[in-house]
Amino acid sequence: MSLLDDPAPTWSSWDDLEGDALGCTKCALAAGRTQVVFGFGDRNADLVFVGEGPGAEEDRQGVPFVGRSGALLTRLIEGIGMRRDDVYICNVVKCRPPANRDPLPGEITSCRPYLEAQLDLLEPTVVVTLGNFATKLLLDTREGITKLRGREFPARGGTAVLLPTLHPAAVLRGGGPTLAQARADFVVVKRALARARA
Ligand code: URA
Repeated sequence: MSLLDDPAPTWSSWDDLEGDALGCTKCALAAGRTQVVFGFGDRNADLVFVGEGPGAEEDRQGVPFVGRSGALLTRLIEGIGMRRDDVYICNVVKCRPPANRDPLPGEITSCRPYLEAQLDLLEPTVVVTLGNFATKLLLDTREGITKLRGREFPARGGTAVLLPTLHPAAVLRGGGPTLAQARADFVVVKRALARARA
């Protein structure tokens, strides 16, 4: 099959995009999901968070970051004077990997067009990648999150900055010192947003 037979999908509306994502069976994760966890929040937001993939609670509710990691993410967002409803939150893969395993390369590749299309429709000015999977995918790097976190990288043709931070689940595991690092990264997020809005 040539590229002409199988053009890259494009979506010009949220409805079309979400409709296709909700019915997706492109990878094996579809068989194990309760529902597709497409994304949550303000579709006009200038700040977007990209996580890894839904966990058990997200799979049950159909909303990203609603479990323990989600509670922490919400606190970090509120810590910079915003509300969860003010931002947009989504994941690299939209269906829960079994037993919360890491998403496989083929699953990430299958799901990537949905994430790219979400970002195209959102046109954010600040993209925060939560943890290694989102950072490696969107920064096209093999560098680990501990080296990249808290730094700003030009993204989306210079129209946005990408800011990697620790995944909230890693912060929960790491305790006080990692929480301090995450808080510091969110201060950088706040400054980047203020600059973009000025
Ligand atoms: N972890 C993620 O990466 N995404 C979620 O939606 C929940 C937990």
